[in-house]
Amino acid sequence: MGRRVLVAVCLGATLLLLCTGPRALRRAFDDRTLGSSWRRGMRSPRQLLYDLDQGPRSPLVELHRQRRDLLRRACSRHTRRQRLLRPEDLRHVLVDDAHGLLYCYVPKVACTNWKRVLLALSGRAHGDPRAIPAHEAHAPGRLPSLADFSPAEINRRLRDYLAFLFVREPFERLASAYRNKFARPYSEAFQRRYGTRIVRRLRPRAHPDALARGHDVRFAEFLAYLLDPRTRRDEPFNEHWERAHALCHPCRLRYDVVGKFETLADDAAFLLGLVGAPGLRFPAPPRPKADPAREQAALLFQDISPFYQQRLFDLYKMDFLLFNYSAPSYLRLS
Ligand SMILES: *[C@@H]1O[C@H](CO)[C@@H](O)[C@H](O)[C@H]1NC(C)=O
Repeated sequence: MGRRVLVAVCLGATLLLLCTGPRALRRAFDDRTLGSSWRRGMRSPRQLLYDLDQGPRSPLVELHRQRRDLLRRACSRHTRRQRLLRPEDLRHVLVDDAHGLLYCYVPKVACTNWKRVLLALSGRAHGDPRAIPAHEAHAPGRLPSLADFSPAEINRRLRDYLAFLFVREPFERLASAYRNKFARPYSEAFQRRYGTRIVRRLRPRAHPDALARGHDVRFAEFLAYLLDPRTRRDEPFNEHWERAHALCHPCRLRYDVVGKFETLADDAAFLLGLVGAPGLRFPAPPRPKADPAREQAALLFQDISPFYQQRLFDLYKMDFLLFNYSAPSYLRLS
């Protein structure tokens, strides 16, 4: 029963925000100095963001306000009544109690680097975030998840903390997952676990080597596997290709900052400014000259029939709508 209060309280949190009124916030605005005050126990990153929202807005503050508005409007337009959230739905929301942050991680959207930053921020790792090995950043339990807390503790954090997530153009993310887990994997784990399953299901006379290793799955086969109703009947999608909205529930949790992979450096700097972590730099990868992600996605999709392109677009449509991505121009929709 206690779990049922979750959503009600989330809505309550939104109302509370509207009701506290400009007066309290205005007072806060006067004594703000970006960042450092949370450490002195005064303004949390979330309060700071809403202070900034009240004053004359910088272009960046305005951009983030627009993203929040767009998300809220898209949610009310495109979602119907939904089932209530349970704590285990919040597995992807990581908690930093020291700074009052909630970060919902979406794999293939710089999540390793965000986990590194959170480890450094929360004092669980020391020194330069870039020096934290990826396997350590991903180790289960290294960062607490919101799902680990009691409903009352969850609600308190949902109400008071600054919640953020990072999203990415859905098909670029999907192409990146395919490349990274099947075509040019760092390890054979995904080929063994999912590749063999895909080969078994989709190739009537598969070669024994492919059946054993799952090493040569084509993009079209991967997409056919995603679109096969049996796949999601058996178990939820793996987090690397699960839709961001299904991992982070942006229509039911209030996200204060919607970061985008496409503007990663700016959005990360904005967030770290709110957190007030002097000296902490987001470990941005070196920027490639061209933007290869889009070209690579276009290349992979050119061999896919319009029929499958349309069905795949339908599958990921909510991520396009909620996060303001338009259908890519290379798509041939049926
Ligand atoms: C949404 O996308 C359109 C087209 O790319 C852009 O002009 C607009 O500024 C975006 N809005 C937000 C809030 O990001």
